[in-house]
Amino acid sequence: MGVPEVIALLLVVEIVLSARLPLKSDVSFSENYYVRWANDHTRMLNGGTEMQLVLDKASGAGFGSRSKYLFGHVSMKIKLVPNDSAGTVTAFYMSSETDKHDEIDFEFLGNVSGQPYIVQTNAFANGVGNREQRHYLWFDPTQDFHSYSILWNKQQIVFYVDDVPLRVHKNNEAIGIPFPKSQPMGIYSSLWNGDDWATRGGLEKINWDHAPFVAAYKGFSVDACAGGVESCSAPMGKWWEQEAFQSIDQEAKGQLQWVKDNYMIYDYCNDSKRFPTISAECGQF
Ligand SMILES: *[C@@H]1O[C@H](CO)[C@@H](O)[C@H](O)[C@H]1NC(C)=O
Ligand SMILES: *[C@@H]1O[C@H](CO)[C@@H](O)[C@H](O)[C@H]1NC(C)=O
Ligand SMILES: *[C@@H]1O[C@H](CO)[C@@H](O)[C@H](O)[C@H]1NC(C)=O
Repeated sequence: MGVPEVIALLLVVEIVLSARLPLKSDVSFSENYYVRWANDHTRMLNGGTEMQLVLDKASGAGFGSRSKYLFGHVSMKIKLVPNDSAGTVTAFYMSSETDKHDEIDFEFLGNVSGQPYIVQTNAFANGVGNREQRHYLWFDPTQDFHSYSILWNKQQIVFYVDDVPLRVHKNNEAIGIPFPKSQPMGIYSSLWNGDDWATRGGLEKINWDHAPFVAAYKGFSVDACAGGVESCSAPMGKWWEQEAFQSIDQEAKGQLQWVKDNYMIYDYCNDSKRFPTISAECGQF
């Protein structure tokens, strides 16, 4: 190959790579996060590049980001509570924590040993959520660390599990539906007792004989715009604003359909008992 061919090849490689989510290097927990409650129910490991939340009868625990962000790609590697995790809830979410808050949630509902976790996702705009979806996962989330990520820009919010899209929430302002795009959100995680509702609808209670329950975290770098509307709304050439990330591509659509066909167990768009009038956003995909 001559020089022009090599350059052409490099350009093609770059274009192909540009549609992928970039890899991030690891930083320690305290660079971007701090413990918000129950410091004595957390454990810092490996020089702060791993941390654990502990739930026992006395308390759960939670942490949050030092900054708030408006748009970006927010990711965490989590190894969920193993064995008997019935009644426990591990939440990983973004929230503006205002009166009419915006929020983007992953909630992992534990189960008795050998039975599947449920991942519940939701998105709030101006304090209104009611957009629950529930999925099983295609692996055991307690065996290894897996990445749970939120890609958030003005056009869409994509929930990823290991770079497989679990869910897409589109900006439907065009049909009058508010979309989170002006409130910066912090990044939070917590482990708590949700046994009044989490496992088999609250039938399965926490067995405290099996405490402490431990969820482990890695991957504390954040690839998002720290700041507010003034500093983050103008086009800045950030990768998540590029056209390739304003909608999902054909391959990702195929993966999303695969997830829906095989792992989705609840969809607010499909619940006409709860919502006699199904939201107009539901037909928009
Ligand atoms: C979970 O169960 C496995 C065997 O199934 C056992 O080896 C391990 O010690 C248990 N872990 C905890 C935290 O109880
Ligand atoms: C727990 O296991 C039961 C039985 O397999 C299943 O119906 C349920 O969806 C699982 N997950 C939760 C969080 O309840
Ligand atoms: C959608 O609703 C139908 C009818 O109630 C039900 O059989 C199906 O399981 C639902 N699917 C999801 C993903 O909620």
